[in-house]
Amino acid sequence: MAVITEIEDLRRIYKRRVPKMFFDYTESGSWTEQTFRENTSDFDKIYLRQRVAIDMEGRSTKTQMIGQDVSMPVALAPVGLTGMQHFDGEIKAAKAAEKFGVPYSLSTMSICSIEDVAANTSKPFWMQVYTLKDDDFMQRLFDRAKDAKCSAAIITVDLQLLGQRHKDLKNGLSAPPKLTPASVANMMTKVQWGLGMLQTKRRFFGNIVGHAKGVKDPSSLSSWTAQAFDQSLNWDRIREFRKMWDGPLIIKGIMDPRDAKEALNVGADAIVVSNHGGRQLDGALSSIRALEPIVDAVGDKIEVHIDSGIRSGQDVLKAMAMGAKGTYIGRAYVYGLGAKGQEGVTDALNVIHKELDMSMGLCGRTDIHDVDKDILMIPKGFSGDWAE
Ligand SMILES: Cc1cc2nc3c(=O)[nH]c(=O)nc-3n(C[C@H](O)[C@H](O)[C@H](O)COP(=O)(O)O)c2cc1C
Repeated sequence: MAVITEIEDLRRIYKRRVPKMFFDYTESGSWTEQTFRENTSDFDKIYLRQRVAIDMEGRSTKTQMIGQDVSMPVALAPVGLTGMQHFDGEIKAAKAAEKFGVPYSLSTMSICSIEDVAANTSKPFWMQVYTLKDDDFMQRLFDRAKDAKCSAAIITVDLQLLGQRHKDLKNGLSAPPKLTPASVANMMTKVQWGLGMLQTKRRFFGNIVGHAKGVKDPSSLSSWTAQAFDQSLNWDRIREFRKMWDGPLIIKGIMDPRDAKEALNVGADAIVVSNHGGRQLDGALSSIRALEPIVDAVGDKIEVHIDSGIRSGQDVLKAMAMGAKGTYIGRAYVYGLGAKGQEGVTDALNVIHKELDMSMGLCGRTDIHDVDKDILMIPKGFSGDWAE
């Protein structure tokens, strides 16, 4: 077995084991992929300040996200089609998160349903909700999340329109995969993946098929999603969702201080500074550059979380030092899941935790709560010095 020392090790194994269609689905951004690339490369522009001869014993990365205890401030982000990366992928990822003591977020577009994940885990998870036109479906989604004892809802607000991802169009992405000569030839080389998929019945969108009107069989799903997402979404509509869900609420996909203030007015408990991992508006700033002005605008009134581009514990450390109260990883755990199932997600969390803990110590801090901008060297103008 290969020794896993960094997230890139998992990505390499993942690429070998999972059909190209699903690898590409993860490993892409929209249009030119500029934002996708800069989400990670911008983290490298921030330097850490080395300190020495400071007692670094007894370090702790424990904290809280929306009042819930976490072993480190890193949640698993909602990722659609996770159950296509590895059989029963959502259940496996949720179990790994539960054992590690970090939150798991289940996507609306998951393969395993809310009820499936709840039945196979013992701690509450967070439910991600897309904003659809169908009120009935929305109310039922929130009710199902409540029945499953989900401890937060995440409303994703940056997907009124689906950003164009060239690779998915070229590959004809679908779940289950369409059988074309090219996709069959590729899947034949992914034996372990295929054997896993044969073991499970969970191969369709579990939260949707049988729950949304007009979706009785999965083949009508693509036309349903095209019609179902609400392009006319506005903050009043989000206020209606707030009434449908009275538990802790996180609003995900905020990149501008004005939108952060709107989210605060809706009564959210936290926002996620996120550009959807560079999959929506290409040409948007990286999340780490967008973070500081948003923290300055609302950080004393609402918890500010961040995702997009985090591939290491050092990235987590930098985001926390810049004022985030929590982070999420998407691709970093999907690589682990596709590489080795539940064990791979645990590997990803271990890698990130170790990097976070050791780097914090080498910066002269022993408690994640004491990490602040003093440990960073941030280039001038990093968070924007834009022409009017
Ligand atoms: C393959 C994939 C599928 C995703 N599906 C969803 C989704 O269903 N709902 C959602 O809110 N965000 C979704 N996202 C965005 C993630 O929640 C998160 O914002 C993003 O992955 C963070 O960037 P990172 O992958 O660089 O960590 C998805 C991201 C990826 C990579």
